[in-house]
Amino acid sequence: MSTAYGKDEIAALQEKAKRHLWLHFTRMSSYADSDVPVIVRGEGQYVYDQHGKRYLDGLAGLFVSQIGHGRTEVAEAASRQARELAYFPLWSYAHPQAIELADRLAAMAPGDLNRVFFTTSGSEAVESAWKLAKQYFKAIDQPARYKVLSRSIAYHGTSMGALAITGLPAIKEPFEPLPPGGVRVPNTNFYRAPSFVADDLTAFGGWAADEIERAIQREGEESVAAIFLEPVQNSGGCFPPPPGYFQRVREICDKYGVLLVSDEVICAFGRLGYYFGSERYGYKPDIITFAKGVTSGYAPLGGMLVTDRLMEPFAHDGHSEHQSHHITEPGVGERLGPNTFLHGVTFAGHPVSCAVAMANLDVFEKEDLLGNVRANEGAFRATLEKLNDLPIVGDVRGDGYFYGIELVKDKATRETFDDDESERLLRGFLSHALFDAGLICRADDRGDPVIQLSPPLTCTQEHFDEMEQILRSVLTEAWTKI
Ligand SMILES: Cc1ncc(COP(=O)(O)O)c(C=O)c1O
Repeated sequence: MSTAYGKDEIAALQEKAKRHLWLHFTRMSSYADSDVPVIVRGEGQYVYDQHGKRYLDGLAGLFVSQIGHGRTEVAEAASRQARELAYFPLWSYAHPQAIELADRLAAMAPGDLNRVFFTTSGSEAVESAWKLAKQYFKAIDQPARYKVLSRSIAYHGTSMGALAITGLPAIKEPFEPLPPGGVRVPNTNFYRAPSFVADDLTAFGGWAADEIERAIQREGEESVAAIFLEPVQNSGGCFPPPPGYFQRVREICDKYGVLLVSDEVICAFGRLGYYFGSERYGYKPDIITFAKGVTSGYAPLGGMLVTDRLMEPFAHDGHSEHQSHHITEPGVGERLGPNTFLHGVTFAGHPVSCAVAMANLDVFEKEDLLGNVRANEGAFRATLEKLNDLPIVGDVRGDGYFYGIELVKDKATRETFDDDESERLLRGFLSHALFDAGLICRADDRGDPVIQLSPPLTCTQEHFDEMEQILRSVLTEAWTKI
């Protein structure tokens, strides 16, 4: 099927985009003299632009499209649900789609993560988890706990609370002062490990985990509510956990009564070959935050999975004479009481999104997508590792279908690029060149410069080869431009 738009249509879209659309995290001035890329259609592992040109979607959109594009059965589930019940809130009411999805997610989740609080996005999931932690500790008479630990250069979202947890100084600074309580600990970038643990991955992991204990002691253990960690940290270029890291973190959290939040907005739903990243690495979080892959992007949805223990203070009335019993707002119907989690968003757990999530998970099961990732992740790694022969490739790292390739100026010394070189290399050349060559991936320098890959879970060797060949040719050319 041809997807090419006509010349006039393309020109009109460009004009409207440049005049009225504001792209996220995008330097809009960079489109003053060039076209805004417009993607019009997707099919399987590929998307097509307005000219009909095909691209391998090596980033699954934005770590989202697990089952790939163009699945009519998922689109039909959305359409059926919109006809049946397009919208109803989860504010004191329920609808069957949210109930069924909560039940399914609870059954899939490890341990006693049995309660699902839906949101519409990952940032809202992170925000909700922090709010729950704060209210939970107030409810169990530990009101001084409000601080949140997270790792250096980790991304946890952009709303004010989530941004306070995010560890990327450059995207926080314009919005300061942020809510107080965000505290940084080291990440697990072994390629840049401190010299005293640089030769021993396990010792490095032990050190990084122990730094969490030191931070809790420094801050005052009675003040720390939670730590937010991704199973594999995305920002900085895919840092998997060293062996034993999460087991040590769990011990520390238990010792100090700190909640362990596994931020799986990227790592859940098959990205690492399991429904949840925490399953892969064998740890039990108190909260899992999720979004993205739960619907593979056919509709927006996020949420948090919470243990029975965290729900406990909210499960019973326990009101006293001094507390209001129920406050019911006419027209909406929410029932507030002393043990109500005082938080909600209009579109959270939207019926269409929940129906889409159910259809998405059906595809996972029917096609054994977890099995596909587990069977092929070794081949994906081996194919990407072929790039190690290029002088610009310093490190290839990741797990499952989630990889980062760190670019360096000097392989032997691991010297990275300075800001000017990074600007010229990533924004001046690589981003455009990779796109022009037909590969959607991410060239990112929020930490050291990396290229990130996170393709649909349906990918097989032919797609790995295509990624490798495009990267090889573009990175070879990049080296000549340094
Ligand atoms: C780990 C993590 N947490 C939170 C978020 C924020 O999610 P959203 O963009 O849906 O708000 C992201 C987004 O990429 C993420 O990767």
